[in-house]
Amino acid sequence: MTSVPRRTTVPAERRAVVTGAAGFIGSHLCEALLQEGWLVTGIDHLRGHPADVAAHNLETLRPDPRFLLVRADLATAELDSLLDGADTVFHLAARPGVRSSWGEEFSEYVDSNVLGAHRLLDAAGRAGVRRVVVSSSSSVYGGAEDGATPETRLPTPLSPYGATKLLTEHLGLAHASRPGARTSVVALRYFTVYGPRQRTDMAIARMIDSALTGSPITVYGDGLQRRDFTFVSDAVRANLLAAQAETQAAAVNVGTGRTVTVLELIDLVGEIVGRPVVYEHSAARDGDARSTHADLTAAVKLLGYQPLVDLRTGIERQVAWRRSLAADIREPQPVGG
Ligand code: NAD
Ligand code: UGA
Repeated sequence: MTSVPRRTTVPAERRAVVTGAAGFIGSHLCEALLQEGWLVTGIDHLRGHPADVAAHNLETLRPDPRFLLVRADLATAELDSLLDGADTVFHLAARPGVRSSWGEEFSEYVDSNVLGAHRLLDAAGRAGVRRVVVSSSSSVYGGAEDGATPETRLPTPLSPYGATKLLTEHLGLAHASRPGARTSVVALRYFTVYGPRQRTDMAIARMIDSALTGSPITVYGDGLQRRDFTFVSDAVRANLLAAQAETQAAAVNVGTGRTVTVLELIDLVGEIVGRPVVYEHSAARDGDARSTHADLTAAVKLLGYQPLVDLRTGIERQVAWRRSLAADIREPQPVGG
């Protein structure tokens, strides 16, 4: 059983639990919550990233006395004591990644995204947590070839990952819809999130590294697939807004309402870095949507959410962060230089 130090002097309404705290989005959310004056318990099994990446993600959080990290697996750990006294739980822990969800690794997706989510929601209900904000995904839609997708669009996920995220979300809504449920749930369907600390399997992180080092990346398919890219601070702000939104159970898009192709993105990253992204093409990957595109009508109405960071500004910030780490980056010298 995991023992948790009690924090008796702080009002209950300012206690948050963040699952997936050592991850890309979760670590940014913890920082924002601390800035807003919350006490934060982070839960993570610390298997989602190599140890040095998790340590980097947690770097500013660890020394803060208002932050507590608990190493626990949501699929197996005793969770009641971790949620005791929490007002809001932000549930980000998951096995992410669309293309790696085929095959044997699928059991990890089920353990974290289905069983872990259900166990957390069950414990949140028992603990009387007021609000759980669940991280869902644009991958529940399957595609947006007919235009921006509103939440009323029938979800048809194309990947095993997308199917588990739809289950995560529906488990949340089912828990919140139980008669007499004390815990309300908002599920946030993030559209491809980027920014400092982005996961290294993702497109923008790989493109920036390619432009900085000259090593090639692979474009899956023709590169004309379109994505609605969301800067991490906008995803974080959507979480803060969702904690206060007036609803018992809802799913909401979190994107920008704008899309670019992968090839357009490659040009933009090259321009910002000042060196081209080097790439080759391979076959399109199973499960990749041809297009994602958020309809933000419900996000504006329910959350008061608007994206604040445009793609160029967001990539400039991610490049600056990547350069600040640059011990392992040897930028190519100019020709003749
Ligand atoms: P991430 O891998 O960086 O963070 C997830 C964290 O959860 C990791 O630190 C991992 O160790 C932890 N974790 C996984 N399973 C766990 C378990 N069973 N118990 C405890 N900890 C566990 O991923 P991310 O990109 O920050 O994504 C965060 C959330 O947002 C996920 O739910 C993901 O599905 C969702 N999402 C992400 C994006 C994106 O573009 N990054 C888009 C849509 C949805
Ligand atoms: C991302 C996250 O990885 C998922 O966890 C998340 O749920 C999903 O967003 C979402 O929005 O729901 P994805 O859109 O595939 O998934 O994000 P990237 O990995 O950044 O890929 C963007 C595009 O670039 C995809 O079309 C992909 O095929 C392409 N890509 C990516 C490449 O061509 N090459 C690469 O090396 C990586």
